[in-house]
Amino acid sequence: MKIAASKEEIFAAQAYEDLHVPALFRQWAPRLVKAAEIRPGQRVLDIACGTGVLAREVARQSGENGFVAGLDATPGMLVVAKQLEPSIEWRHGTAESLPYENDSFDAVVCQFGLMFFQDRTAALREMLRVLIPGGRMAVAVWESLENSEAYPIEVALLERLAGQQAADALRAPFVLGDRAQLTALFREAGVAAVEVATHHGTARFPSIRTMVEADLRGWLPVMGVALTEEKIQSILEEAEQALGQYVTAEQTVEFDAPAHIVTGRKS
Ligand SMILES: C[S@@+](CC[C@H](N)C(=O)[O-])C[C@H]1O[C@@H](n2cnc3c(N)ncnc32)[C@H](O)[C@@H]1O
Repeated sequence: MKIAASKEEIFAAQAYEDLHVPALFRQWAPRLVKAAEIRPGQRVLDIACGTGVLAREVARQSGENGFVAGLDATPGMLVVAKQLEPSIEWRHGTAESLPYENDSFDAVVCQFGLMFFQDRTAALREMLRVLIPGGRMAVAVWESLENSEAYPIEVALLERLAGQQAADALRAPFVLGDRAQLTALFREAGVAAVEVATHHGTARFPSIRTMVEADLRGWLPVMGVALTEEKIQSILEEAEQALGQYVTAEQTVEFDAPAHIVTGRKS
């Protein structure tokens, strides 16, 4: 299936693949594969696949007799995903309305997407619908902001220098950190055998500037917040000092970035 995206969308997705995937996301893919108990020959769907880091890991595990599909709402992500691995089925669509038949997959995985879905319960019910009876799901979400490092400081900086809307845009990835609420969300959607495991993770960026600039120029516009160049420069300047404690001897930036992996199955 042909996926169309503008040059700007493809550029943004390539920047995500080059910076954010190695800094934050790649380390979680083997953990999700393990949590979902992916085996050779299985049919697996990666929802909100982005540029496909998890789907590629799944494909390595499910092997040549398996079938892997990756679905995302952003066409630019899928264009980059397809360039990286043409053999996976990349589909444009939303998690709330999956373009697949009932009982199509042995497992469904979703890595750091659930926080952004407009209707999370509908998305979880869709995951159940496309799973075979007994099929397994594994879903990763970030720990709460207060249990994460560096980002609470960046959020406070944005709140002070750019206002509440900008700060809220950076809070958005952390909104499902509460374990009790997370468990209730999955149970109420009808997921069986729900378990939440909290894992240690490490964020690694080339520099403070790269990290904060990607948030200001890449993430905030996605969330509908555009800052002036003057504002961006003043935030970048203050960030050097505010986040200085996370700079390593090699001048890179490193901090704890914990996340929950929720597992469950279709009864
Ligand atoms: C933080 S990225 C994670 C991407 C990928 N799973 C990874 O680990 O690199 C979140 C992804 O969710 C996708 N997304 C947001 N809302 C969506 C929806 N309703 N349905 C499908 N994908 C969605 C975005 O397009 C984006 O690619």
